[in-house]
Amino acid sequence: MITISPSLLACDFLNIEKELSSFDGIKNLWYHLDIMDGHFVPNLTFGHPIIKKIGKVSKHPLDAHLMVTNPKFHVDTLVKQNIHNLTFHLETFSSQSEILELIQLAKKNYPSVGLSIKPKTTIDKTSLSEIIKNIDLLLVMSVEPGFGGQSFIEETYSRLIEIEKLKRNINPKLIIQVDGGVTDTNANKLIDHGVTNLVAGSYIFKASPQDYPKLVEKLRKGQ
Ligand code: DX5
Ligand code: ZN
Repeated sequence: MITISPSLLACDFLNIEKELSSFDGIKNLWYHLDIMDGHFVPNLTFGHPIIKKIGKVSKHPLDAHLMVTNPKFHVDTLVKQNIHNLTFHLETFSSQSEILELIQLAKKNYPSVGLSIKPKTTIDKTSLSEIIKNIDLLLVMSVEPGFGGQSFIEETYSRLIEIEKLKRNINPKLIIQVDGGVTDTNANKLIDHGVTNLVAGSYIFKASPQDYPKLVEKLRKGQ
């Protein structure tokens, strides 16, 4: 079943708890937390105090997307915040061994560990293969990270075709997540391209709260 991850970046920050409760009872749903540092990306969102509060009330797994220059700090400090999946960016590392080292460290404390790649990052199959063997989730960015509400980058599909081949040979259980510009107009094609986890911010939160569940199911059905 396709998992839908509403990105809280687009929710009403004055009423986060109420926003979260709009998704009560929906199966296969993660809350996507965009964590930024104003350095890896120019923007800022929320930090540890808010993540901690969300972790306490959440009835769904939390999915942390670290858009930060120093992911190790967050791997160390988010440990007790009830995070299910922790994803950091490939571009913050200078060598493959550093990436593999942080993946191994994260795996000790988080049930699921992901790696994310920006839209313009070259896919080096040899090096990515080794990483894919060791992660649970690969996040393929379909916009430049840092801001919600951007348009989906169409080149994402060709990247997904390459990634799907690697996944099939190396780690068939790998979750492929796409983040950025996801709507009911591209969900179907993304699912056809092997995506099993769709992140959506503005598509869901621009609607009224009573319509969130309907939009989640629309994405999941790819229509
Ligand atoms: C962008 C974030 C996304 C963002 C997606 O840097 O990683 O999670 O919230 O927002 P939409 O769905 O509006 O493109
Ligand atoms: Zn994100």
